[in-house]
Amino acid sequence: MERSFFSLGETERVLAEPLAALRHELHEHPERSGQERETTERLRARFNQAPFEILPLPLTTGLAVRIPGKGPGKRVAIRADMDALPVAEWEQNPIRSQNDGVMHACGHDMHMAFVYGAGLLLSRNRDRFCGEVLLVFQPAEEIGEGARQMLDAGLFERYPVDHILGGHVKPELSAGRISVRTGPVMAALDGFFIEILGQGGHGACPHTCRDPIVAAAATVLALQTVASRTSDPSLACALSVCRIQGGETDNVIPDRVILEGTMRTVDDDQRTACLDRFRTVVESTAAAMGCQARITFQRGMPPVVNDDRTARICRDRARALLGEDRITALPVDTISEDFSLFAQRAPGCYIGIGTARPGENVYPLHSDRFCPGDELLPLGATVFAEMALGLLNEDKEIGL
Ligand code: NI
Repeated sequence: MERSFFSLGETERVLAEPLAALRHELHEHPERSGQERETTERLRARFNQAPFEILPLPLTTGLAVRIPGKGPGKRVAIRADMDALPVAEWEQNPIRSQNDGVMHACGHDMHMAFVYGAGLLLSRNRDRFCGEVLLVFQPAEEIGEGARQMLDAGLFERYPVDHILGGHVKPELSAGRISVRTGPVMAALDGFFIEILGQGGHGACPHTCRDPIVAAAATVLALQTVASRTSDPSLACALSVCRIQGGETDNVIPDRVILEGTMRTVDDDQRTACLDRFRTVVESTAAAMGCQARITFQRGMPPVVNDDRTARICRDRARALLGEDRITALPVDTISEDFSLFAQRAPGCYIGIGTARPGENVYPLHSDRFCPGDELLPLGATVFAEMALGLLNEDKEIGL
């Protein structure tokens, strides 16, 4: 197996302290999506000297930082998300939010520390690469707007990148293990809003009505066949009706029932086929019950799809750094993520970084108890730095 550029033992010594300090600062002062002003300032303060160069992008929150190598070459971006959630932190977490009701419950504090750490390592090893690295700190991931904002600010137009890296902490994976997949990693998101329109009346005389409640019930069940019969069984698909609203009292059949929910798919053809069938199933089921259906789709994020070659290089570097037994490929995640917008524009690789400590309770993302240990920070940072160097030096023999 090839040697790694970095040695984890060494990088842990250099990075443990500064990364824990940044992570604690960020965790204690979380900010919600679109409001990451202090977070942006805290990061700016760490990149305000050479060789870091903060890029002049018209952004209210978020920033991108350039690290030039020793000569011209490729450009590789590493992206972290920055926002926290409206969750009240559990009192017994080792680090506590000081902003009531707001918490880094999705680990974005760790992501920022990973990318900062990767930046520190790469800035101290500029003689080992040509080209440059962009550190991309993206706001508003949780509401699916931040990646779009950065692209609209001209990030990739002004600084086109050859590859982009990103990742997420993964409570379902053991601490210290890394997941790298080729192909789809996370799902596309489509929201739906359905109005089923009938004609209300007396609950004792249903034959004089067109009952939207029965039509809605049939629709919820019929929709399950979109995931089970239309979607290719080898591809991940989730379709959930998450809200039903209709009726006011026990003896009146209402005029109208609302259904709302979400659909997740991982492939463009599958997505189109499922949306088409969705429409047919809803309209025909409502019609069969004498009702009418009006559907509004809110098309959300495309799927996150890793580029094969980029992901293979990243996996090789992770293996060289950590050893074969710490590298795995988790199944496709049906959660969605706006990293997909970056990965549509540049060959990308989105990885998973395990956080589960053996023998300890595992809390899911967005739980008020989700607070992984600082010991993972140098590892995440080194993995990203190693992958970035692997991509920058892809065409060359590296003297070690
Ligand atoms: Ni997240």
